[in-house]
Amino acid sequence: MCGIVGYIGQKQAQDILVNGLKKLEYRGYDSAGVAIDVGGSIVVSKSVGRLKELESKINGTKLLGFRGIGHTRWATHGRPSDENSHPHFDCTEKFVVVHNGIIENYAELREELKALGHEFKSETDTEVISHLIEELYNGNLLETFRMAVARLEGSYACAVMSEDEKDKIIVARKDSPLVVGIGVGENFIASDIPAILEHTRNAYILDDYEIAVLTADSVDIFDRQGKHIKKSVFEVKWDAVSAEKGGYDHFMLKEIDEQPKALKDTLRGRIDEQNQKIKLEEVKLTAKELQDIQKIHIVACGTAYHAGLVGKYAIEQLVRIPVEVEVASEFRYRNPILNEKTLVMVISQSGETADTLAALRLGKAAGSRVAAITNVVGSSVSREADDVIYTWAGPEIAVASTKAYTTQLLAVYMFALYMAEIRQTISEQARIEIYQALQYIPEQAARILADKDHAKKVAQGLIDWNSAFFIGRGMDYTVALEGALKLKEISYIHAEAYAAGELKHGTIALIEEGIPVISLLTQPDVYEKTMSNVIEVKARDAKIIAVVNEGDVKSKDVADELIEIPKTHPILTPILSVIPLQLISYYASVLRGNDVDKPRNLAKSVTVE
Ligand code: F6R
Repeated sequence: MCGIVGYIGQKQAQDILVNGLKKLEYRGYDSAGVAIDVGGSIVVSKSVGRLKELESKINGTKLLGFRGIGHTRWATHGRPSDENSHPHFDCTEKFVVVHNGIIENYAELREELKALGHEFKSETDTEVISHLIEELYNGNLLETFRMAVARLEGSYACAVMSEDEKDKIIVARKDSPLVVGIGVGENFIASDIPAILEHTRNAYILDDYEIAVLTADSVDIFDRQGKHIKKSVFEVKWDAVSAEKGGYDHFMLKEIDEQPKALKDTLRGRIDEQNQKIKLEEVKLTAKELQDIQKIHIVACGTAYHAGLVGKYAIEQLVRIPVEVEVASEFRYRNPILNEKTLVMVISQSGETADTLAALRLGKAAGSRVAAITNVVGSSVSREADDVIYTWAGPEIAVASTKAYTTQLLAVYMFALYMAEIRQTISEQARIEIYQALQYIPEQAARILADKDHAKKVAQGLIDWNSAFFIGRGMDYTVALEGALKLKEISYIHAEAYAAGELKHGTIALIEEGIPVISLLTQPDVYEKTMSNVIEVKARDAKIIAVVNEGDVKSKDVADELIEIPKTHPILTPILSVIPLQLISYYASVLRGNDVDKPRNLAKSVTVE
């Protein structure tokens, strides 16, 4: 978590840093700060709260200078406060540091440095870095910084400036993302590409243990031994507007609306029209290797984990291979049974989630093949996995994931179909049916999005409740889980998802008059069973909001609110049935006056454990 930026060149650093931080606020928004070289001395300004607090603090006293670093924080060590905000100085106030990540051995380092007379001003793990640099400084900042980061355990994307070496900013990375933007007569650093896009499309994506020295005219990159290395320039193809809000009140609604395009983009290039097959050229697994896989572990967090649950149903149904789905924070510490016959598939929008990355590494270390579904080219997950299937959803800025989820579903379906074709586990007819249904999905998603009034009305009926339930069976249950998570995280209404058949084993005791029960009834094979459960809660006076396939007559008599979605192949329904749930959560959040894009206590990319 946290976002860092930096600038060195001929322009005023302050505006560039603040604008860059605005693009990174989704990474954390507890506090923000900048350090700018003002006429040879480094001036730090920082403030707890949103970036606008910092802006109003520095606007009056414009910090004039051409070199600076900045930070937007999501607190890990030390509560959100002015003192704990970055940047952090050493005792002499000559070295200033911003950092994203967690220094695991900070307590030992802090004690060691305190014993040497260093006085600390904050409770953060980061402050040890500036003091360590002060302690080790030998007149050469690059060499000193290399020695300092060698002592750090944990994760860091870190930038340092010194008063003594005025022509440079130095950065290092391990397990936290960092890019260097390459300009003409100016260079940039950032945790993520949107922060540099308005200035340059050329970047170096740093790898673990690399250190980069930026001056206005040069970028030099070194490995951990100090050897100069040559890296290829990554050309950013995104258009800058796609990283902006583009007329919407919130990124979340914009991203919900972008789903038809995101789905189309994710399908593009993967369709072999002539043979009516899915082609996944990026998957390097040979047919033999795919044949040899005996088990698949899908590992992910949050919404991506819910995409994994759909993946389990799809793969088991189409490929008949056992699939386990696990949240990454559990998987990594459970000593799972892995070998060269298991495929570990990680799913991550950002490609930087710490637990998911750890799961990926665990899989590799155990000799398993590791495949990844991710949305971010150049992310850690994309670079470390053996095979990568990208979702082409474009940047997702809202904390609540929407278009990333539906494109993740599309990616798991394509993978399942591709594998089923190779292993010949489904009939030609069944394969073609799903293949053809897939082509209509983007347009069907657009049809759902064309009418948002119904979702708004349903949301209005939810906002005065403190609790809501989502029920369904089979694939509907996996979507219920995602619907409940969405509602919880942005509307703050407590929502629980239950496998409909489980209700009467306890939870039905919570059903009272009027309580909203969002019931998913899209799966033909379990429709009657789920309907019985819906009737049971209806008999206890719950309010039934039913999500059904178009033309479902039976549910009309039971539902208080009926949400119809276009009919597709049952296995693909989750991509469509989740969309009304995303909209309901969005409007519930808006109607409750919440900060939709930045829900409390959450950050977009969870790069710490
Ligand atoms: C919820 C949400 C999170 C993420 C989770 C994993 O709306 O967005 O639950 O899905 O933090 O993030 P990624 O996919 O970046 O690994």
